[in-house]
Amino acid sequence: MDHLRVGIFGATGAVGKELIAVLADRKFPVGTLRLFASERSEGKTVETPFGALTVENANGIDFSTLDLCLFAIGGGWTKEFAGKATAAGAYVIDNSSTFRYDPAVPLVIPEINADAIGSSLLIANPNCTTAIAILPLEVIRKRYGLKAVIISSYQAASGAGAEGMEELKVETRRFLDEGKSGHSVFAHPLPFNVIPQIDVFLENGYTKEEMKVVWETRKILGLPDLAVSSTCVRVPVLRAHSEAITVQTEKPVDIAELRALLGKAEMIEVKDDPATKTYPMPLYASGKYPVDVGRIRQNLVFGDHGVDFFVSGDQLLRGAALNAVLIAESLVATGKLKAGA
Ligand SMILES: NC(=O)c1ccc[n+]([C@@H]2O[C@H](COP(=O)([O-])OP(=O)(O)OC[C@H]3O[C@@H](n4cnc5c(N)ncnc54)[C@H](OP(=O)(O)O)[C@@H]3O)[C@@H](O)[C@H]2O)c1
Repeated sequence: MDHLRVGIFGATGAVGKELIAVLADRKFPVGTLRLFASERSEGKTVETPFGALTVENANGIDFSTLDLCLFAIGGGWTKEFAGKATAAGAYVIDNSSTFRYDPAVPLVIPEINADAIGSSLLIANPNCTTAIAILPLEVIRKRYGLKAVIISSYQAASGAGAEGMEELKVETRRFLDEGKSGHSVFAHPLPFNVIPQIDVFLENGYTKEEMKVVWETRKILGLPDLAVSSTCVRVPVLRAHSEAITVQTEKPVDIAELRALLGKAEMIEVKDDPATKTYPMPLYASGKYPVDVGRIRQNLVFGDHGVDFFVSGDQLLRGAALNAVLIAESLVATGKLKAGA
């Protein structure tokens, strides 16, 4: 097997650190791994399963020295450098939202639409909330058809990166010690609170995070007219997002059959036994690859053409690092990604 020259961009961030771990855990054929971040981190040494590596400045690198670039920086940086990387012949898998809505750029969950990659060297990784919801939605789509989807999220601090996690920890301590907490990453203090705003508000009254769920669900499932609505809420959970999902289906749903179908699906674990208080929770979904699905029940409004369920998934993994590495694995498996190509 080829041993690839891999670069992680944003390697010191929340997603970047997980990318290092997932590449090692999944035994991705890494020949050389290089870590890139801002000039603030240049020269720092990071202990990794691939040895101790020195962080390089992400700006001004020669992309022809890499086969695969895993981007986990922000939008502005990505916009400037993605074209340079692909022009040099490297594959780019980007975690930011910069290219997700560009019709020429595939937006990929490998278990669902790996075929969409085609010949594109630039591939977008979906938004974390979408990535977690879409695995069970695809199971429902295949068997019963989707008419409408309504998603309410309970999103962890980790969705705002390493700084968001740190703010939750520090401000929770401050609240316990001083009785009040501050904020700079989040729009309001997060400890002992919930914040119904993630990203900026748009003209239609929805936040950008909510519209990302709408746009990306449609694009990945190839259903441009699917009725989707979403409310995204930040909660004082350190890591792993949860979502309450209501689906109106085309065909009647047999709940026992659906539970069995979800149980057989790739990267889904059914946690659904009210008698033993078993259901998805972010505490137990953290650090795991599969998405937990439970509280599966017929919807009281749509009757047998509707289902409600609850999911928890580690969005740093399923919604970012794991999905990116799964995309890279599919590029290797299909012979598209080769060393020194
Ligand atoms: N967190 C999530 O759950 C999640 C999920 C899906 C997608 N994403 C997306 O993934 C990307 C990274 O998110 P994150 O949560 O990992 O953020 P983060 O924890 O804030 O990390 C950001 C990384 O980018 C680097 N960086 C920032 N500005 C840079 C610049 N101008 N030049 C070079 N490097 C720069 C930082 O380096 P320094 O340490 O040197 O500052 C750090 O390594 C974002 O686009 C985010 O929207 C995040």
